[in-house]
Amino acid sequence: MFLKWLVMFIGGFVYKKKQKKMTVAAAVSSPKSRVLIVGATGFIGQFVTEASVESGRPTYVLVRSVTTSTAGSPSKSKVIKELQDKGATILYGSISDKELMEKILREHEIDIVISAVGGVKILDQLPLVEAIKAVGTVKRFLPSEFGHDVVRADPVEPGLRMYNEKRSVRRLIEELGVPYTYICCNSIASWPYYDNHHPSQVLPPLDHFQIYGDGTVKAYFVAGSDIGKFTMRTVDDMRAENKSVHFRPSSNYYNINELASLWENKIGRTLPRITVTENHLLAAAAENRIPQSIVASFTHDIFIRGCQINFTIDGPHDIEVTDLYPDEPFRSLDDCFNDFALKLNHNSTLADPITSSLFNAATCA
Ligand SMILES: NC(=O)c1ccc[n+]([C@@H]2O[C@H](COP(=O)([O-])OP(=O)(O)OC[C@H]3O[C@@H](n4cnc5c(N)ncnc54)[C@H](OP(=O)(O)O)[C@@H]3O)[C@@H](O)[C@H]2O)c1
Repeated sequence: MFLKWLVMFIGGFVYKKKQKKMTVAAAVSSPKSRVLIVGATGFIGQFVTEASVESGRPTYVLVRSVTTSTAGSPSKSKVIKELQDKGATILYGSISDKELMEKILREHEIDIVISAVGGVKILDQLPLVEAIKAVGTVKRFLPSEFGHDVVRADPVEPGLRMYNEKRSVRRLIEELGVPYTYICCNSIASWPYYDNHHPSQVLPPLDHFQIYGDGTVKAYFVAGSDIGKFTMRTVDDMRAENKSVHFRPSSNYYNINELASLWENKIGRTLPRITVTENHLLAAAAENRIPQSIVASFTHDIFIRGCQINFTIDGPHDIEVTDLYPDEPFRSLDDCFNDFALKLNHNSTLADPITSSLFNAATCA
C-alpha cells in the first residue's frame, strides 16, 4: 500500500514538474511580436533597435530615402549597415506618407510600432497614427516621447513648442483609440550640459562644473541601453497598455552637486564650480537657437523647477518601471561614469586629455 502511494506521489510530482516546464516553454516559444521602429538611426532609436533585435523579436526599421534625410551621410549609412548586420530588416519611406505606412504595416504584419523621431519631426507622426488606426491590427504604439511626462512638465519656450506637439500626438492617439505606451524615461545618464544637443556623446567636464541654481534639485539619469531594454520589456506587457511608464530608478537619482562629486571621485581631483542662475538659463532659452535653446529650457525645467520629481506617480494611467520589473537592475550612474572615466583614460594615452576627450563619443549613454 505504502509502495503504491509512493509511486503515485512520485508520478504526480514528475507530472506537475513536466507541466510547469511546458507552461514556461509555451510562454517562451510563443510567437514574438513583429516590431517596426522609426528613427532607428537616431540617438534614442539606436538603443531601442538594438534592444529589440536582442530581444529576438523580428525587427523592421524605417529609414528615409537618401534624398530626404541624413541617411546618405557616411555615419548614418554605417549605422544602417550595423543594424542590418545585427538582424534588423531595413525598409524605406517616411512616416508622413500615410498610404505607404498602411502598406508597410499590412505587408509585414506589424504588431508593435515604436517611433523615435527627433524633436523637430514630432508632427510627422500624425499620419502614422492615422495609418495605424486604419490598419487596425497594431497592438501597441509607442510615440516619440523618451523624456519627461509632457502633460505634467511645463518648460518655457522653445521647449514648450516641442511638448505641445508631443501633446497633440498623444491627443490623436487617445481620440482614435490606438493602444499606446508613453515612455517617460527622464534624463540620459551623462553630464547635463545645458547648451548641448546630445549630452551623453560628450564626457563630463574637465575644467569646471556649471551648477544650475543651488544645485540641489534632483533628477533621474538613465543609461541609453536601459532606455532600450526597458522600453522593449513594456511593448507587449498588458500592464503597460495605455499607460505612461515612468523611469525612476533609485540608484540613478542625483542632484547636480552630487553629480559633480561623483565625477571628481572618478578623475581624482576637484574642479571649480560656477553657478548658472535661473535667469541665465531663461536668457539662453529666449535666444531661440535650435536646438541649444530647447535644451536650455529643459535644463531650467529639470534643475530649477524640478519637473521630474514634482509629482507623484499615482494616476490611473501611470506606472513606475521598477514596479513592473522589480528584479531587473538598472545600470547605476556610478557605473556609467566609470565608462566615461575609462574613455578619458583611453583618450589621454592618445593625446591631450582635455581637448581629445571632450569631443569624442563616450560609451555610456
Ligand atoms: N531623455 C533624453 O535625455 C533624450 C535625449 C534625446 C532625445 N530624446 C527624445 O527622444 C526622441 C528621439 O530624439 P533623438 O534626439 O534620438 O532623434 P534624432 O537623433 O534627431 O533622430 C531622429 C530619427 O528620426 C528619423 N526621422 C525623422 N523624420 C522622419 C520621418 N518623417 N520618417 C521616418 N524617419 C524619420 C531620422 O531619420 P533620418 O536619418 O532620415 O533623418 C532619425 O533616424 C525625441 O522625442 C526626443 O525628444 C530624449
